Formats: sequence, C-alpha cells, structure tokens
Amino acid sequence: MIVAKKVGLSYPDGTEALKTFDFHIEKGELVFITGPSGSGKTSLLKLILGMEFPTHGSFEVLGESIQSDNTEKIQMIRRSMGPVFQEFRLLEGRTVLENVMLGMRFLDLPLHTIKNYAIQSIERVGLGHKLKHTVDRLSWGECQRVSIARAVARKPVLIIADEPTGNLDKENAINILELLTSFTDTDTTVIITTHATHLIEDFHNGVFIKMNAGDMQIERRI
Ligand SMILES: Nc1ncnc2c1ncn2[C@@H]1O[C@H](COP(=O)(O)OP(=O)(O)OP(=O)(O)O)[C@@H](O)[C@H]1O
Ligand SMILES: [Mg+2]
Repeated sequence: MIVAKKVGLSYPDGTEALKTFDFHIEKGELVFITGPSGSGKTSLLKLILGMEFPTHGSFEVLGESIQSDNTEKIQMIRRSMGPVFQEFRLLEGRTVLENVMLGMRFLDLPLHTIKNYAIQSIERVGLGHKLKHTVDRLSWGECQRVSIARAVARKPVLIIADEPTGNLDKENAINILELLTSFTDTDTTVIITTHATHLIEDFHNGVFIKMNAGDMQIERRI
C-alpha cells in the first residue's frame, strides 16, 4: 500500500523535514504518527497524498510512484484517498448533506447512490439528525465529524487525518479517534497524526510512527 525506500524530504529553503527513512504500510493497517510540533508529521502526510515529492529515494502509494513526472496517476490514486484536513475546508452556507455530497461529485455514480452513501456516512459519524443544518451553525467537533463523513463517504481505501483531535477535550478526542479507527478493515488503511501521545495510549494494535525532528522510529504492535 505504501512503500518507502531511502526517502527523504527537504523543502526548497533547505529545511530537512524528513530525514532518510524506510517503511512499508500494508493494506488494512492502522497507523498513528506522533511527535512534537515541527517534527515532520504533516510533511509525511503530504508525501502520502502526493502534495510533496521526495527529495531522494523511492516512495510508492497504492502502486504509484510519488514523483513530479507522475502527476496524472497521482490524481487517480487521490480518488481512493479520504483526507481529513486540519482546517476542514467545509463550504459555508451549505448543509451537512451538501458538503458531504460535494466531496463525491467526481465519482462516477448515480446521484441517488451518492446521496445514499452520503447519508450513511453522516449517520455513521453521529450527525444523522443534522443533515439539513448549514455547517455554519455547527460546533468545532461537529464540523470535524462532517469532515470525516465527507472523507469516508466515497469509501476510500486510505483514510488520512491530520491532527483530528486538535481543539477537543480528552473525551471527545478519544471519541473521534475511535470513530476514525473504526473504519480500518481488511481493505481500508487509516493513518492519523497527533501530537497528543497520551490520547493513543489505549490503542494497542497498529503501526506507531514516532517523529522527532525529521527522524522516524517505527514500531508495529500486533
Ligand atoms: N512548505 C514548507 N517550506 C519550508 N519548510 C517547511 C514547509 N512546511 C513545513 N516546513 C518545515 O518542516 C518541518 C516539519 O513541518 P511539519 O509541518 O511536517 O511538522 P508537524 O510535525 O506537522 O508539526 P505540527 O505538529 O505543528 O503540525 C518544520 O520545521 C517546518 O517548519
Ligand atoms: Mg502538522
């Protein structure tokens, strides 16, 4: 699913965000990326999403090489990914249902199927009672849930969430993590970053990637 061989990432200004690393992530794995601010978590996600390219080494996601000369194929595999961005990127003035359906507009499916998938995923995140509410009236945590519903509605094989628990108290943060991890199955890989290591203490199975100033320490717990 994801294979990195001697990969490193430096930004044009010379910042070495990711020092040379190797890893592989299999289909169906749950991956937590932890580490302090500036340690390279988002940079690693950007590589996986094909939003940055490695400065050296070979990086493959869903069988495609993440390189500047492969952008068409990268666009294709992006459709199999469900990103949950830190800043949500929801459309104001639109309802919960509209926001989720808009995230699916490029799918080659009949409108009623899109609508059914959207409603299913909104119910799954616990907002079935707010389908017709505009997102402007929702709390931060509810917006986070809409953003998750939008990411999962198109049934991606790779769900990627950057700091999904950002502004939440511990109880709600754990609820969000449990919701996200519940999407892991034999075909679906879930990757979550957080700087709050105490939040993931109760998760015992998965791949734990600890970042520290661009260095990576990887532990697989089964
Ligand atoms: N576009 C960029 N150009 C130059 N440097 C960058 C760029 N993006 C990130 N960096 C630097 O790369 C390093 C890693 O940043 P990154 O955003 O990956 O960290 P992070 O672990 O996600 O931090 P946070 O927990 O604050 O989100 C930092 O030193 C950051 O300043
Ligand atoms: Mg970050």
